[in-house]
Amino acid sequence: MSRRLLITNARLINEGTARDTDVLIRGERIEKIAASITPDRADEVIDAAGRLLLPGMIDDQVHFREPGLTHKGDMATESAAAVAGGITSFMDMPNVSPQTTTRAALADKYELAKGRMRGNYAFYLGATNRNLEEVKALRVGDACGIKTFMGASTGDMLVDDPAVLERLFANAPVIVVTHCEHTPTIRDNEAKAKAEYGEDVPVREHPRIRSAQACLTSSSIAVDLARRNDTRLHVLHLTTAIEMGLFSKASRLDKRITCEVCVHHLWFDESRYEDLGTRIKCNPAIKSDRDREALLNAVNEGRIDIIATDHAPHTAAEKGRSYFKSPAGLPLVQHALLSLFDLVHDGRLQVETIVDRTSHAVADIFGVVDRGYVREGYHADLVLVDTQRPTAVDRGSLLYKCHWSPFEGHTFRSTIALTIVNGTVVWRDGKLAGPIAGQRLQFSRGR
Ligand code: DOR
Repeated sequence: MSRRLLITNARLINEGTARDTDVLIRGERIEKIAASITPDRADEVIDAAGRLLLPGMIDDQVHFREPGLTHKGDMATESAAAVAGGITSFMDMPNVSPQTTTRAALADKYELAKGRMRGNYAFYLGATNRNLEEVKALRVGDACGIKTFMGASTGDMLVDDPAVLERLFANAPVIVVTHCEHTPTIRDNEAKAKAEYGEDVPVREHPRIRSAQACLTSSSIAVDLARRNDTRLHVLHLTTAIEMGLFSKASRLDKRITCEVCVHHLWFDESRYEDLGTRIKCNPAIKSDRDREALLNAVNEGRIDIIATDHAPHTAAEKGRSYFKSPAGLPLVQHALLSLFDLVHDGRLQVETIVDRTSHAVADIFGVVDRGYVREGYHADLVLVDTQRPTAVDRGSLLYKCHWSPFEGHTFRSTIALTIVNGTVVWRDGKLAGPIAGQRLQFSRGR
């Protein structure tokens, strides 16, 4: 007999509404959602009174650094940090070593993940200027998508041959996801900055080097390619107001071109280079307060479909180097949802919107099977958030292998009280719990 876990008195935020309910989990799946379920049917009862129950976040963009870059992070450490942050599923990027650019490398990576991921996982195949045949041979479910660096970033995976891009967009068997920054524009801006400052360019110049124009040029090319080839395209981590005109407010179910923002681009703006320096150096760059406002508005109006993290750990020593030598990226999964709940406290976002953009939308756009909603028969991937209990971010509480966070010193106004993955409690009262419960994600949606 499967174990039964009963959650009572929950304030469930799901499918655009909030309601008080009980949820009965049997084994790995949600068996029943009803106003009142009798406790004698359960092996364990969790009283959720006063807390919010949400479907776990599905993060479509993480860098857990395996294989090959495990001094920065690994599947075990970073997935632990993710579930501590209420992220129950994640899709991991291919800029590792060796790069995940063949189906054989993908298979190796899935093998590496078995029994080590605390949340559910899937991997991207990385596109290159030379691996079109590998891309074309992908079947639905082999990879969550095809990651295409249309701008060079960590890992040297730039796809910049126009003929290759054309064929990639025409032939992709699953969704194409793009990093959009125009590398020639960035190189020009770098040369100008070096002419002014020499090698010692201040970090505050990052948003002028990785400029709004570089983003717009590249994302315009991606959108044009997708329109002409009828490709399903998801543009990752947007950072600028001027790109918003490229994307539609229509329902995601009617769109073939969707987009996202990441939590750090909703939280920080360029004024923070002053105190955080290279710690918040990332690609695309954190830009102006005006851009941040436009991103928040676009999330609220449905122009931006998904909120993700782009969790990208590097060691503190690596990040401590000078501007050009410091790698781009920052660790985020442990506090991503909490940062969004602070924006709720500030009246900038609604809880229903957070749930939609971090969970429902990701499941719909990527075609994740039986996750992303709290529904009878779906996998029990759930999070309890206590919006009355603060979380102070200090180094001792960080689960990242790199042991630093851009949020150190900040106190979030909420706490991730409990995380459940496939019916197993994996995070409770500030501690990891239970056996490893992550499973490989299944997908139903092709091109
Ligand atoms: O800031 C970033 N870091 N942007 C990327 O595109 C890659 C990532 C990384 O892998 O470090």
